[in-house]
Amino acid sequence: MRLDRFLAETTQLTRSLAKKALHRGEVSVNGVVIKQPASQVEVTDRVEWDGQPLALVGLRYVMLNKPADVECSARRGLYPRAVDLIDLPKAERLQTVGRLDVDTTGLVLLTDDGQWSHRVSSPRKRCAKVYLATLAEPLADEALAAAAQHFAEGMLLEGEDKPTLPAELVMRSSYEAELTLYEGRYHQVKRMFAAIGNHVTMLHRESVGPLSLGNLAVGEWRELSDDEVAMFT
Ligand code: URA
Repeated sequence: MRLDRFLAETTQLTRSLAKKALHRGEVSVNGVVIKQPASQVEVTDRVEWDGQPLALVGLRYVMLNKPADVECSARRGLYPRAVDLIDLPKAERLQTVGRLDVDTTGLVLLTDDGQWSHRVSSPRKRCAKVYLATLAEPLADEALAAAAQHFAEGMLLEGEDKPTLPAELVMRSSYEAELTLYEGRYHQVKRMFAAIGNHVTMLHRESVGPLSLGNLAVGEWRELSDDEVAMFT
């Protein structure tokens, strides 16, 4: 990797500020001051800026218990972003694996490993996502049986030409629905309940594949263990 890029990756410097720091002689590689931005560095090289050792951040895998009023977006908008809650170096490089709506709470995964993200979110991988939806209208008896059948068979949502993948509906109480999806379309849970004439007033994601929130408090995050990362193959 070029030295100026290495500096931009490992510090707050932009590429052009990195070049200036290099020209000022502030950067050394294996104890030798290097001024050329195009000079190549290897992972085994010892790079220092103003005497401080620099290291590339590896791939990171994080789970967050997202509060309401937090956006799963890379761009800054009206609300704080999920990455703003993650106290890791270069956290803005993390991307959410799929998205939860701003008012949806619960389990969000973030990573800078694009291939892993794809493995978790691709519908082909059939990774189960469990949602708890609070409904405006109670759902029971024949209406429940009909809804469960629609969801299990797959339904055509407005504006789409492919039916949803089979989903499982179980009621925890007459207003509280547990819905398991194997894909992640835009506003999917809310649209599925809207399609059967109901309305989701609160939505929470409890788990993604084998990962669930456990005792992670709202707004808290933690890095996944190697075993947890390896669960998505
Ligand atoms: N389905 C929705 O409607 N919203 C979410 O945030 C996630 C799934």
